[in-house]
Amino acid sequence: MKNVLITGGAGFIGSHLVRHWVKKYPDTRVVNLDKLTYAGNLENLKDVENAPNYVFEKGDIVDEKRVAELFEKYRFDGVIHLAAESHVDRSISNPMEFIRTNIVGTVTLLNAARAAWKDNFDGKLFYHVSTDEVYGSLGKDGFFSETTRYDPRSPYSASKASSDHLVRAYFHTYGLPVVISNCSNNYGGYQFPEKLIPLVINNIRNHKPLPIYGKGENVRDWLFVEDHVSAIDLIFHKGRKGETYNVGGHNEKQNIFLVKLLCSIVDRKLGRPEGEAEKLITYVQDRAGHDLRYAIDSSKLVNELGWKPSVTFEQGMELTVDWYLNHEEWLRNVTSGDYQKYYEKQYKINA
Ligand code: NAD
Ligand code: TYD
Repeated sequence: MKNVLITGGAGFIGSHLVRHWVKKYPDTRVVNLDKLTYAGNLENLKDVENAPNYVFEKGDIVDEKRVAELFEKYRFDGVIHLAAESHVDRSISNPMEFIRTNIVGTVTLLNAARAAWKDNFDGKLFYHVSTDEVYGSLGKDGFFSETTRYDPRSPYSASKASSDHLVRAYFHTYGLPVVISNCSNNYGGYQFPEKLIPLVINNIRNHKPLPIYGKGENVRDWLFVEDHVSAIDLIFHKGRKGETYNVGGHNEKQNIFLVKLLCSIVDRKLGRPEGEAEKLITYVQDRAGHDLRYAIDSSKLVNELGWKPSVTFEQGMELTVDWYLNHEEWLRNVTSGDYQKYYEKQYKINA
């Protein structure tokens, strides 16, 4: 049996990845290492928690001893590293946690892999999951390619950029077999409602204001989370060592367009009068250093490995709204407690 370590498997993308791997690869034991921060939730993995090839290990990726113990216990063949602090707004108010987990945590895992594999790297792989935000902000034209100069502008993206550099340094310096992917904004079920799409759907349902930063003209390139997962699977198995692959589905949308679309889908699905949700749109103070536009050129992944997304943007949005409307209890659970305090502080209005 092969053993694969997935870090951050209780989070948004991680839980989709764990579910996919556990079901598709019954001969691989999937070990999910997660600290269960506010963003990690074992409810996300209820349907696979009893699978014979799945194990959950609670722990912090910065904890050297704990990480070494797990490498010793399971003798991992591969690592897929997703654990991170992932929200830009939180990185603006508390950068240190991002330095700790995203940078120090990544190096802790790299060191553990190197030590456990004893510089005999045959059949081993360290896969680092990263973001397009490392490339900075685009103007009206152009795309991020794998050779675009790094130019991170938020504490979050700077910490991810730093971790990417360290992963590459371990490839060049020690020969550690690594691969990196940089993906655009994901959407889908199980995303923590601090991020734009689930936040807006949840607020529409509860007749709460829909906060739009600045003028709502910023552009993000949206990818359905299961298509990110299929890219990770492909890159893990077929990607060239030491390489970077950009992942994105060419779905560039201005925030205001996206929010209005969500308003109309949710109104329709809840049987509310057309235009009701749009009345909730509230322009609020812009995010500090708000990147204007992200857009990914994923032609390397498409041409070299044959990846293609499975759903269109329109299909993905319908599926996503359905998911949140059908998972009221999940939303209620994750938005109780600390979320209320975060929300009040972030938006200076009552949740
Ligand atoms: P998330 O915030 O939903 O989940 C992060 C997970 O990591 C949580 O389960 C959390 O408990 C865990 N974690 C945090 N700190 C930890 C620590 N010190 N030790 C162990 N576990 C810890 O994040 P996500 O949106 O699923 O993103 C996953 C990865 O994908 C991140 O590395 C992120 O940078 C990258 N990424 C995300 C997007 C996106 O749109 N969400 C796009 C591209 C890349
Ligand atoms: P977000 O989901 O936080 O992802 P990221 O910042 O990593 O791209 O935000 C997506 C876009 O939506 C971004 O341009 C910021 C904007 N936004 C708002 O306008 N209002 C909000 O309440 C949030 C959370 C985001």
